[in-house]
Amino acid sequence: MTDASNHASDSLFKIYRRLLQYTRPHWFIGCLALLGMAVDAGCLTLFTRLIKPLLDNLFQQKDPSVIFWMPIWIVGIFIFRGVGTYWADYGTAYVGRSVVQTIRVEVFDAYLRMTAAFFGNEASGQQIARITYTSEQVAQASSDALKVAVTDSLTIVGMLGVMLWNSAYLTLALLVMVPAIALVATVVSRRYRKISRRIQGTMGTITGAVEETVNAHREVKIYGGQNYESARFAAVAQSTRRLNLKVSSINALSSSTVQAVAAMALAVLVFMATRPSMINSMTPGVFASLLIAMGAILPSLKRLTSVQPNMQRGLVAAQDLFAIIDMPPEPDLGTRVMDRAHGDILFESVKLVYPRGQAEALGGVDLHCAAGKVTALVGRSGSGKSSLVSLLPRFYAPSHGRILLDGENYENYQLASLRRQIAWVGQSVVLFDGTVADNIAYGELAGSSEADIVAAAEAANAMEFISRMPQGLQTQIGQSGNMLSGGQRQRIAIARAILKNAPILVLDEATSALDTESERLIQQALQRLMKDRTTVVIAHRLSTIEHADQIAVMDQGRIVERGTHAELIALGGHYAALHRMQFHDQTVDQSSDQAGESVSQPAGI
Ligand SMILES: Nc1ncnc2c1ncn2[C@@H]1O[C@H](COP(=O)(O)OP(=O)(O)OP(=O)(O)O)[C@@H](O)[C@H]1O
Ligand SMILES: [Mg+2]
Repeated sequence: MTDASNHASDSLFKIYRRLLQYTRPHWFIGCLALLGMAVDAGCLTLFTRLIKPLLDNLFQQKDPSVIFWMPIWIVGIFIFRGVGTYWADYGTAYVGRSVVQTIRVEVFDAYLRMTAAFFGNEASGQQIARITYTSEQVAQASSDALKVAVTDSLTIVGMLGVMLWNSAYLTLALLVMVPAIALVATVVSRRYRKISRRIQGTMGTITGAVEETVNAHREVKIYGGQNYESARFAAVAQSTRRLNLKVSSINALSSSTVQAVAAMALAVLVFMATRPSMINSMTPGVFASLLIAMGAILPSLKRLTSVQPNMQRGLVAAQDLFAIIDMPPEPDLGTRVMDRAHGDILFESVKLVYPRGQAEALGGVDLHCAAGKVTALVGRSGSGKSSLVSLLPRFYAPSHGRILLDGENYENYQLASLRRQIAWVGQSVVLFDGTVADNIAYGELAGSSEADIVAAAEAANAMEFISRMPQGLQTQIGQSGNMLSGGQRQRIAIARAILKNAPILVLDEATSALDTESERLIQQALQRLMKDRTTVVIAHRLSTIEHADQIAVMDQGRIVERGTHAELIALGGHYAALHRMQFHDQTVDQSSDQAGESVSQPAGI
């Protein structure tokens, strides 16, 4: 335990140094702030220093020049101090906020570089809390705590100076309380560090719980999850409260201990100053000055004991953020850049074990997707279809085997260049906060002409509903497109893929949410689109893939059958069985005997 905490404090020092690096661009304001702090503490010291002449010269000796100057001095000192305080406060806030903003942006950018595995490993609540809560904690360490540390240390030094100047003997006698205060500070900071890590964790859980409930508000209502969610949230909130109260309790305890120690020191002061040997050499001015200096040290000491913990909290937070910033980005060692790929894809005994999964999601897949041809993947749910296509944009790297594109090892291509070759309609459609047009022309497609966007939307059979929207293409569709139906969302995603016009097209259940009529219309569009590009299409509805150039049937991470529709039917294996089942369902659904027709005249491709 002590070993671990020693190690932790060692690395905390490194983190602090790194944090200071972030303040570098703001060095000028930072220096102004430091100057402000010095002025702040200096003026207070100066004022305390004036107490002795105030009492002795003003009231006892009635010195006319002191009587004239003293009020002017007092006003002057405090106006000057006001300027200092302003710069100390504003300057630290300026530097602190700037540092936090930079770190926040860096963390956000780090998220954009992360591997797909990273997002699977951690609850999204933690990822959000890092940006919202954790970075706020850093602001505290880099600004508030620093300000207190500097201003109050200087104040204490100044006050000690005043005391020494007044009576070295009494001041030194008061130093007995130093070890007591040091002890309090150490105990407090140890407790604090442990707790702040835990608080950070609970903040992530809180964010996660809120996010989940907000996203799943329908499920919560339908399945009557209110009590469960409420209890779950209350438990997290409760544990946050407990941890925060612990922090407050430590703070309060340390304040009151420091206060008690200081009161004892004060008592010692009064006791010693009134000894017969001292009392005669003691003027009211000296005594009051000592008393006021002691009094001024007190709040500074109290604040200083809480500085260490606050800084620690900020440093623990910074540690977490730096760990994210330092995470390796997606591996991108390839250097080959292509303009437009031919689109010949070859999987060679490809295996895939997900980072957190034990079983093989893919257990040795060999598949050739010839350029410009359509490959359909069918198979049971969980058989590895999505996993196989997720290797194409290199979301995951195969744990064994390799993939060749146009005869070249996949890993030799530059990631961005590779992804530019792929248009993708995923199993769950993701839309962004923005207009319909923004969503179709997303990312690198932004800036496409309106005519192109309309053409893509028309090809995806989406213009039909878009033109009925109040502002057409310029309609805001809200975050995650929750103003749209499932099929409408899919059509926008298809329009996006059409607009991208990439040589490789991946359709993972791209039309699953559409009615037969719309599906047929889109199938025609997709068919045109597939003409001169390599297409991998995943479909449960076999009618949509019957005309594919090859159909691969997957089961438990392997390809168990491959061939054209006719070949596979003739083979009489998995595919034929699947087909028979769907075909049977259809005839039962339609309660008609047009079965023969639907085989010979399939809808779609
Ligand atoms: N991110 C992941 N981490 C760990 N395991 C995963 C992950 N994604 C999928 N799997 C596992 O890999 C296997 C194959 O999943 P995959 O999504 O490829 O199936 P699928 O054939 O696309 O199924 P469906 O038709 O239901 O979409 C499943 O057993 C699943 O549990
Ligand atoms: Mg899938």
